[in-house]
Amino acid sequence: VRPLRIGMIGAGTVGGGVYEIVMNRLGGGSSSSTTTRTTPTPIITKICVRDASKPRNFHVDPARTKIVTDISSVINDPEIDLVVEVAGGVTFAKDAVYASIRGGKSVVTANKALIAENMDELIALLGEANANNRGGVRFGYEASVCGGIPVIHALQSCYAGDVINEVMGICNGTTNYMLGKMETGAEYDDVLREAQDLGFAEADPSADVEGYDVRAKIAILAKLAFGVAVPVDSIPCMGITNVSVVDFAYAKSMGCTIKLVGTAVRKSRFGEYDGALSVYVSPKLVPDDHLLASATGCGNAVAINSANLGLASYAGPGAGRYPTANSIVSDVMRVANGTCHAVPFPLSRSSVDEIDNDYDSA
Ligand code: HSE
Repeated sequence: VRPLRIGMIGAGTVGGGVYEIVMNRLGGGSSSSTTTRTTPTPIITKICVRDASKPRNFHVDPARTKIVTDISSVINDPEIDLVVEVAGGVTFAKDAVYASIRGGKSVVTANKALIAENMDELIALLGEANANNRGGVRFGYEASVCGGIPVIHALQSCYAGDVINEVMGICNGTTNYMLGKMETGAEYDDVLREAQDLGFAEADPSADVEGYDVRAKIAILAKLAFGVAVPVDSIPCMGITNVSVVDFAYAKSMGCTIKLVGTAVRKSRFGEYDGALSVYVSPKLVPDDHLLASATGCGNAVAINSANLGLASYAGPGAGRYPTANSIVSDVMRVANGTCHAVPFPLSRSSVDEIDNDYDSA
């Protein structure tokens, strides 16, 4: 079987993890690959970076992989089947992802901002590309929400016969770490520095502490759960900048802790969920025995309340080199074996009648 040839855009922390797993653990196109004979073995043949002379914290095998700085040599290479985008940012990454899809290549990306801001456009683009390429253009984005936790796969695959009423996500490791430390008395500025040192924070940490990172992620989860693309800038968003150590004393007196939670919920009356969809991000009191309270340190957790299943939770590492790379590689393998979705958001129509994020009228 011909290998699955990958062009990777970006070679940072996550890209390094992806390279190591694909090229070392999975054999990287070699005959000693651990993948099955009927599944193409992935191999990263090109990595596109901004500065080829920059030292990297992983070894690139020059016999198998070329470092390039010209994006067109990846997206226009007819030998490349799949583009893995781990560069981040929106403008350059969006152009590269769109051009790849238009050119008939599958894409795997961790880019939450890019997806959250362009969900309906991406669906249309993939529809066109698949019409022109006999359904061969796949789009994987498991790593974009909650790093290593397969929550996107769960939402794409496991709720087909169910009706989701509420999604609550602790989707940001940086702020979860900070809140956990503040609960034990540490001061905000100190724990922000510690969180940055751990390497989970965004390049501009205001995206973490102001809640914008969670806002993009809950928009993606809401689209998966309810079939509706809520415009990101319409989502009310309050981060953790106003949470102080004293708030935890009040929370504790009520048997609770404080978490930054992205929520997408159908409004309910008397326990019946039938109203408009409300999506928002805010610090919340979470009872100590709630499933979400199990996310400690940099961990993430998503709780989903649905008609058939009731309350289920998905928890684990939400960021970091290997957990996030693991999600990317699992998408790569689904592209290789043909099980990655061509339609990234399976709900074809909204399961709610309206969106109501207007808190003044609540
Ligand atoms: N800054 C993000 C976090 C990285 O702290 O969770 C993963 O999306």
